[in-house]
Amino acid sequence: MDNLCGFLGIVGTGTMGQELALNVSGRGCKVIVFDQNQKQRQNLKDLGLNSVSSLANLVAALPRPRVVLIMVPAGSAVDSVVEELFTLLQDGDAVVDGGNSYFKDTQRRAAKAHDLSIYYYGAGISGGKEGARTGPAVMLGGPEEGLPLVMPILSGLAAVREKRLGFLYCGNDGVGHFVKMVHNAVEYAIMQLQAEIYLIMRDLELMKAEEIAASFATLNSGRLRSSLMSMNVAILKYQDDRQEGLLLDVVLDRAKQSGTGRWAANSALELGVPAPTLLAAVDARSLSMQGELRKSLHLQYSNISNPKIAKPNLDISDFEATLFAGIICAFAEGFSLLEAGSQRYDWTSHFSFSAICDVWNSGSILEADIMNIIGPVWGRVKKGASLLEDDQLAVTTMKTLPHARKTVTAAISAGIPIPALSASLAYFDGIRKANSGANLIQAQRDCFGAHTYQRTDREGQFHSQWQES
Ligand code: 3PG
Repeated sequence: MDNLCGFLGIVGTGTMGQELALNVSGRGCKVIVFDQNQKQRQNLKDLGLNSVSSLANLVAALPRPRVVLIMVPAGSAVDSVVEELFTLLQDGDAVVDGGNSYFKDTQRRAAKAHDLSIYYYGAGISGGKEGARTGPAVMLGGPEEGLPLVMPILSGLAAVREKRLGFLYCGNDGVGHFVKMVHNAVEYAIMQLQAEIYLIMRDLELMKAEEIAASFATLNSGRLRSSLMSMNVAILKYQDDRQEGLLLDVVLDRAKQSGTGRWAANSALELGVPAPTLLAAVDARSLSMQGELRKSLHLQYSNISNPKIAKPNLDISDFEATLFAGIICAFAEGFSLLEAGSQRYDWTSHFSFSAICDVWNSGSILEADIMNIIGPVWGRVKKGASLLEDDQLAVTTMKTLPHARKTVTAAISAGIPIPALSASLAYFDGIRKANSGANLIQAQRDCFGAHTYQRTDREGQFHSQWQES
């Protein structure tokens, strides 16, 4: 393990904070931790960590210039820690928010820190509990001048995969959290796409439970091998220890969310970036939470039988190709959102999509072989291009489309909800359609609101009296 040879204060030791503290101290860094929970403070001592009883004690125990990593839940908890820290720290000290904060909150806090001559960083940290302990992926944003202070620690605790370091400095203020937010939106989308494939296999009664598990193992042995897919393989085989059968079968079907996916969806809407697969995944989680309504409507509509169709002839190659196409669309939407964010917030100078692919593929939840297909695209296409504009990827993606159409059609015909799979296909078909139906919408806008329209055959803005008055 690398020896980081520094001091680090960590505030908040929930799952991620505690594991990061153990990670960093295991690499030779002197770690001082503070948790507001008294029982947890004792637990930290039992783990051999230097646990103090207040923020003031933590700051006093750190030599200057100090580095303090905040690992508390996003929102008001971060604000209260930051406000107190700002009264305790001195100029030249550094604060790193390693939680999933909203990037605009990070921008606001960074501006205040700047006035106090404190270096403020937002670090997106991905990899879950295991990654935090052994090496996560870190996406950092903040002032360049303070990097010599924070980088040795943050790059030292990160994952290394096939010589790739799971650390990336992305640029100023909120960009680290913005990149993590988009990462999470793609993560939501991939999870939703995988859940829909599972649902089709299960509800079309194409396979028994063992066959579903085996199919996911097959998916995990090819180009769709990934951390998430490995988790699926384990989950789909895991037996309930309270009764016979899979534990998954008794897990309540309500998927919660902590905020990043929704913020990404809001950002996509705000920046005018089409991201239907990402939005569908957020929506699907919200819909899953309406469990009581779903149950009641299930009864109300129980007499509706879906059209009788012959059992579709879907096999593993259909599922593999459908999932591949969906994931490519999710990444295409995610990278378009990154591009728009970098333009809007002036982060272009440090932005490199291939570097982002590398960090996402080095310790993060998105670690996946498909990154080895997507990463090289950014060396081939012009800056600002869509992922789908790459000729090589286009050839690969085109081969998947007949399978995707077949799978989506079969699921829709059978009444199986597949919002992300169908949104990804609609995104693909929409983004490559030269003549959309929006001419009618613009004509309607002009008809009822005199919003004017442009013509395809001549320059200028036009207005017509579409209806007789
Ligand atoms: C992550 O950072 O990956 C989050 O833990 C996942 O986000 P969620 O809690 O909104 O699913």
